[in-house]
This record gives sequence, structure tokens and C-alpha cells, in this order.
Amino acid sequence: MTTLTATPLAPLLNRLFEQADAASAATNSAVADLSDGERMRLMRSKTDYAALYGRLKHVPLAVSRETGALLYMLARSSKARTIVEFGTSFGISTLHLAAALRDNGGGRLITSEFEPSKAARARDNLTAGGLIDLVEIREGDALRTLRTDLPDTVDLLLLDGAKALYPDILSLVESRLRPGAFIIADNADHSPDYLAHVRSPTHGYLSTPFGEEVELSMRIDQ
Ligand SMILES: C[S@@+](CC[C@H](N)C(=O)[O-])C[C@H]1O[C@@H](n2cnc3c(N)ncnc32)[C@H](O)[C@@H]1O
Repeated sequence: MTTLTATPLAPLLNRLFEQADAASAATNSAVADLSDGERMRLMRSKTDYAALYGRLKHVPLAVSRETGALLYMLARSSKARTIVEFGTSFGISTLHLAAALRDNGGGRLITSEFEPSKAARARDNLTAGGLIDLVEIREGDALRTLRTDLPDTVDLLLLDGAKALYPDILSLVESRLRPGAFIIADNADHSPDYLAHVRSPTHGYLSTPFGEEVELSMRIDQ
């Protein structure tokens, strides 16, 4: 048995994923008045992302069940003890990563969210899952909250906030990534600069698209 597949986490995640599935109509209607072009512009903007995510503050925007399982497995197999996450939302990905920390024997997960109501909801979910003791939720823009007080070494980084900021957030954490650290970027197709960075052989990563949603990268010795 793992923390992920045992009570209380397994039934909690089932419920949260069901709620996430049910929220797809609300997600669509939150941006229904925007043209496709404007939606794409906001998705890729380095300045207007708060407007987009403000509209989406009531919906979970969670990773898929498959990506959640992948996060748990990568964190377990790499024996991660220090994890940084960009984009907490309701904490569904955070629950998977914190469960892996628990099963690895403990550790520290720093996660970042600028919508206060989402941070509160994530805190409630992590408490219900019995994992809040492993997690520090930093409220505010991750460009600021992840700038200081990171662990000396980071074993795993999840990028799942505003897509245009992936290169900036990576650069805040990059010097701390240990050789072999995994970087998982959800929906990174919306961040061409990020993909160019991690796929360039000169920047110190091996990187590949993994499944339909994720760019999976590994830090190599510099
Ligand atoms: C796709 S959702 C994250 C989903 C979450 N990882 C999960 O699987 O449950 C993206 C979240 O990042 C937050 N976000 C976007 N840009 C941010 C920023 N610059 N700083 C902090 N949070 C941000 C949004 O408010 C939103 O809740």
C-alpha cells in the first residue's frame, strides 16, 4: 500500500478529480466571451496572466489523473526530498507530490499560488489528506515568492502556473536543481521559449514530450 492508494488520500483524490471533471463547463464559460485569439494571447502573455487566472479562480484546472500518477512515480523513483511547484490551484498535483514525499520518508514541498481562495482550498485539501505538514504554500506571484528561501538542492520541479513564465520560474530554481532532478512542465506547448531552452543540448537538460500533456526534462551534470 502507498499513501496515494490508501485512505484518506485515495477517496479524497477520487472526489477532487470528479469535481474537476464536473467543472469543465464552468471553466469554458469563464472564458467564453473571449475570442480564441485573445484566449491564446492571455495564455502566452508575460504581463496579463493574472487577468486570465482571475477569471479561472473558481475552477480547479487540475492535472489529469495520468499526470498525477506520473508525478507520484517520478518523485518516488528519484527518492525526492525537496520539491518546488509553480501553480497550486486546489492542490491536486500537490497531494500527489506530498504523498510521494511521505512515502520517501519525509521532505519539503514548496508550492506557489496567487489566488488566495485557491491557496485556502489547497490548504484544506492537504489537511484532509494528512499531508499539510510536508507542504509550505507560498501565496502571491511565484515570480516573487520563489525568488528567495529555496532549499539548497531541489530534486523535482513541477511547472503548472502561467505558461509564459515557465522560463522565468525555471531560472529561479535552476541553480538548485541536483543532477538527475526531474522538471515536469504541464502543457508546455504554450511556452515555446521554455521548450527551446530545455531541448537545447547546451543548457544542461535531457528533455522529451511525455504523453499528451507533459514535457519531461532531467537536469544533467553541468
Ligand atoms: C493549471 S492550475 C494548477 C493546477 C494544479 N497544479 C493541480 O494540478 O491541481 C494553474 C494555477 O497557477 C496559478 N498561477 C498562475 N500564474 C501564477 C503566478 N505567477 N504565481 C502564482 N500562481 C500562479 C493560477 O491561479 C492557477 O491556480
